[in-house]
Amino acid sequence: MDVNSPGAIPWSELRDRARQATRRSYSPYSHVRVGACAITDDGRVVEGSNVENASYGLTLCAECSLVSDLVRQGGGRLVALAVVAGDGEPIAPCGRCRQVLYEHGGASLAIDQGEHADAVTLGDLLPLAFGPGDLPTRSTP
Ligand code: THU
Repeated sequence: MDVNSPGAIPWSELRDRARQATRRSYSPYSHVRVGACAITDDGRVVEGSNVENASYGLTLCAECSLVSDLVRQGGGRLVALAVVAGDGEPIAPCGRCRQVLYEHGGASLAIDQGEHADAVTLGDLLPLAFGPGDLPTRSTP
């Protein structure tokens, strides 16, 4: 599958799998179940669920869990992503996750807005981002 060609993103599968992933959320504190599913530029599918913690602040978002799955699978570039809450509808990636996703998908990463809206890009959600490309050009001895 050439996921890089227009119209090739299997949005409905990504949404369905993100909804399935909400069932494996560990969210006993907020009761906000979040599931994420993305496809890579070589057609692999990666998934994640949020994992909360009694300390609250150490909670892992579903997108961080997804990036962990990506790296565990050997890495690659994220092309398209769906993130949903337990009601099955899209939930906005938090600010921290936008930065984490930028590292592995860049500004062109397409982010689902549900069946009735066009996807947006990570560049829309995180304009003027700081990223890996800034390090070599901005480091000083
Ligand atoms: N959450 C995510 O998993 N991803 C986001 O981008 C937003 C928030 C989770 C974290 C926490 O378990 C719950 O939603 C409520 O904040």
